[in-house]
Amino acid sequence: MSTLSAQELAQQRQADATGIDNNAVLLGDSIKSVYVYEAPVRIWHWINAAAITVLAITGYFIGVPLPTMPGEASDNYLMGYIRFAHFTAGYILAVGLLGRAYWAIVGNHHARELFWVPLFQKAYWREVIQVLAWYLFIAPKPNQYVGHNPLARFAMFTLYLGIGLFMIVTGFALYGEGTQPGSWAHTLFTTWVIPLFGQSQDVHTWHRLGMWGMVIFIIFHIYAAIREDIMGRQSIVSTMISGHRTFKD
Ligand code: HEM
Ligand code: HEM
Repeated sequence: MSTLSAQELAQQRQADATGIDNNAVLLGDSIKSVYVYEAPVRIWHWINAAAITVLAITGYFIGVPLPTMPGEASDNYLMGYIRFAHFTAGYILAVGLLGRAYWAIVGNHHARELFWVPLFQKAYWREVIQVLAWYLFIAPKPNQYVGHNPLARFAMFTLYLGIGLFMIVTGFALYGEGTQPGSWAHTLFTTWVIPLFGQSQDVHTWHRLGMWGMVIFIIFHIYAAIREDIMGRQSIVSTMISGHRTFKD
């Protein structure tokens, strides 16, 4: 045990009592941080996550409805509320994505990562393999990424954006069946989507399958976000809250 001078001992006692320890702060590592995700991207992310959670739960029950309730039909509007919540969250998802696309144009360059993938650049694929090797415990150390890591970017583009657009198109095609010919949803989507798939039930089935695709993305996404926060070389979850990426080394 090192011997401390009387002054150092007094300082340590003070630090123990107050929690203030300027010497320890001076000796500590300095942390580097980069501002990556602007407020509209972060707000969109969390509203979007909430909307998809509501859509997946209510959608599941639309396809597998709850047992019929006893009593007057007019006293039981549960399925009506479930459908209402689904359609409201559906509008939020669609309008939110339009807002997010606008931000990809006016926001910083990280705001554009969701909308395109550099498929024809060798360096991109090298990094995808690097991340895969790290995820599979083959590579001993990951690289540092300021924006999305290249593998996450690929999954976000194909699984999130691809399936998300598919859900919006098929969802509004089904919605237009209820709002009838003459409504914008019917004119813009129902008229061509239903014949393209064959008939209404086929669209229901594909819309439901799309939900499972989205659920698979979300499971991997949340696992990877938390895993990388713990094992990776930079902050992850807090970055989608504060916007800042801090580097651990
Ligand atoms: C990630 C997004 C979405 C998910 C996970 C989702 C999920 C589902 C599921 C699982 C069903 C039941 C399908 C069946 O088995 O018949 C369903 C039905 C439906 N969804 Fe979605 N959906 C999403 C987006 C949307 C959007 C954007 C709209 C547009 C308003 C929408 C409108 C509808 C409609 C109209 C139905 C049929 C309702 C009925 O027949 O009573 N969905 N959804
Ligand atoms: C329904 C659930 C969710 C969906 C659909 C979803 C979707 C997405 C999408 C599309 C992005 C790309 C953002 C962009 O470029 O604009 C993203 C990023 C991100 N998400 Fe989620 N997310 C969900 C839930 C969560 C949860 C629960 C967490 C936290 C544990 C999380 C953590 C993150 C983080 C940290 C990023 C940024 C990753 C990075 O810095 O490279 N997400 N998410």
